[in-house]
Amino acid sequence: MDAERFHEHYRLQASWLAPSRRYLFRKAGVAGRRRILDLGCGSGVIAEELRLASGRPVLAVDRDPEMTELARRLYPGNEYLAGDERRLLRQGRRFDLVVISFVLLWQRRPLPFLKRLRGLLDEGGALLVLAEPDYGCRVDQPDGLAFLGGIFAGHIRRQGGDPCVGRRLASLLRRAGFRAQVELASFLDFPRPETNGDWEREWRFWKDLAGFSEATLRRILRREKSAIARHERMVLFPVFCALARP
Ligand SMILES: C[S@@+](CC[C@H](N)C(=O)[O-])C[C@H]1O[C@@H](n2cnc3c(N)ncnc32)[C@H](O)[C@@H]1O
Repeated sequence: MDAERFHEHYRLQASWLAPSRRYLFRKAGVAGRRRILDLGCGSGVIAEELRLASGRPVLAVDRDPEMTELARRLYPGNEYLAGDERRLLRQGRRFDLVVISFVLLWQRRPLPFLKRLRGLLDEGGALLVLAEPDYGCRVDQPDGLAFLGGIFAGHIRRQGGDPCVGRRLASLLRRAGFRAQVELASFLDFPRPETNGDWEREWRFWKDLAGFSEATLRRILRREKSAIARHERMVLFPVFCALARP
């Protein structure tokens, strides 16, 4: 799937969690940080927010070069690198804030990954985990849409990730050598009729990504639209966040 479609998805995802990022940026003192790394930057949406909040370019890194290329075009004010945390460690790069957003869930081995991130921090540095979900706790209403959580979780598991990483965040951070405050970034949504258009694009994205059928897509759209119109649509979906220090 092309990088532009991922970008649309990341922008929508970022819009849901914007209030929690404002809170977390203040909490982590983003405005006073000098060397910020956004690891797993995708199309650069969060890196650009970090640049605006800190007043200086951030280093945005993604292991997918198509994403860093797109991000460079969209948000030229930042510095980009195609690679991962191992490459940064080899280069001896250090940061006073490392930020991740929807990245831990994709790691095959999240504990060594977090230990490597600890190695990227300068004296006084911190790790800001903006959003890591727990699809295992997801509840979709009405009941006819209860199967949705399984679609997301199945896709993440097939890619080697952990769709329930959110519930493990506190213990993983502690075992990786961090002192962390773990909180909920968000957990509840009642999609409104005027957001139908966004949802339709988002479901098409997931259809192509997770590979479900056109018939399933139509079923989801039909059920969701009518539930939203009746104000019966509800999503309970915990997304965890944390500020962690070594
Ligand atoms: C779900 S996307 C999130 C993008 C962005 N952080 C956001 O919230 O919009 C996860 C991204 O992390 C990247 N990624 C995963 N593990 C990585 C790693 N160890 N180093 C660099 N990038 C990684 C993937 O290539 C993907 O683009």
